[in-house]
Amino acid sequence: MKLILIGAPGVGKGTQAKRLSEKFDVPHIATGDILREAVRLGTAVGLKAKGFMEAGNLVPDAVMIEIVEERFEQGDTRTGYILDGFPRTVHQAEALDQLLARLGLPPQGVILFECDDEVITARIAGRRTCEKCQRPYHVRFSPPKREDVCDVDGGKLIQRPDDSEAKVRERLKNYRDQTAPLIPYYERRGLLRRVDAKNSPEAVSTAVETVVSCFR
Ligand code: AP5
Repeated sequence: MKLILIGAPGVGKGTQAKRLSEKFDVPHIATGDILREAVRLGTAVGLKAKGFMEAGNLVPDAVMIEIVEERFEQGDTRTGYILDGFPRTVHQAEALDQLLARLGLPPQGVILFECDDEVITARIAGRRTCEKCQRPYHVRFSPPKREDVCDVDGGKLIQRPDDSEAKVRERLKNYRDQTAPLIPYYERRGLLRRVDAKNSPEAVSTAVETVVSCFR
């Protein structure tokens, strides 16, 4: 299964990507997770990315393309991948097309998750993220079994620094300006399918399964 997930911040891409990755046993490649880990470790990439992320802005294309190329070099993507958060600009999409063509791993489809800004804002406000594995929870919609503790690895659940209301407004604006042009980009290639993401995580998963069955 070779899939690309796109959609606004907080729409639920990470939640569905984790489910798809477990179901199809393929790697979940989330550029936001890779960057947060780099920031936590204080690597060169982390130091470059930190300021952009904290301001709610996109990290420059050249940095992101290099990260993704290196990630695909790990060689565990032969049986598939779930790309979450990349590409985010048309330039990144063009670079990805070239990389995946070179590797003989073109995507089967692109899923666009759609829902209103008010729903997104409520989701981000209540999000808690595992410090260790970055699994997202929600205080109301997907609470952990024990407060502030990850069900999977016992990691501490934290609020992301870019999840404040002002940063979310900036991220939504950047999504519209820089990432939304990917919709016609993938539509023209006949790859894009839309999923209504406003319902419960389970209902969204069912909608995703229907779309995925068309790709197979
Ligand atoms: P990234 O981590 O990719 O953030 P994002 O795209 O803004 O997406 P989010 O992680 O906020 O949300 P999501 O859609 O995954 O939603 P989730 O499943 O968590 O990127 C962070 C930053 O890194 C960027 O701002 C940028 O600076 C940089 N970056 C990353 N990639 C880049 C790139 N390619 N180019 C340049 N810069 C890049 O769900 C949200 C919440 O809602 C959770 O609490 C969840 O439990 C809950 N939830 C999920 N689904 C549902 C549902 N159906 N019903 C109710 N609640 C739900």
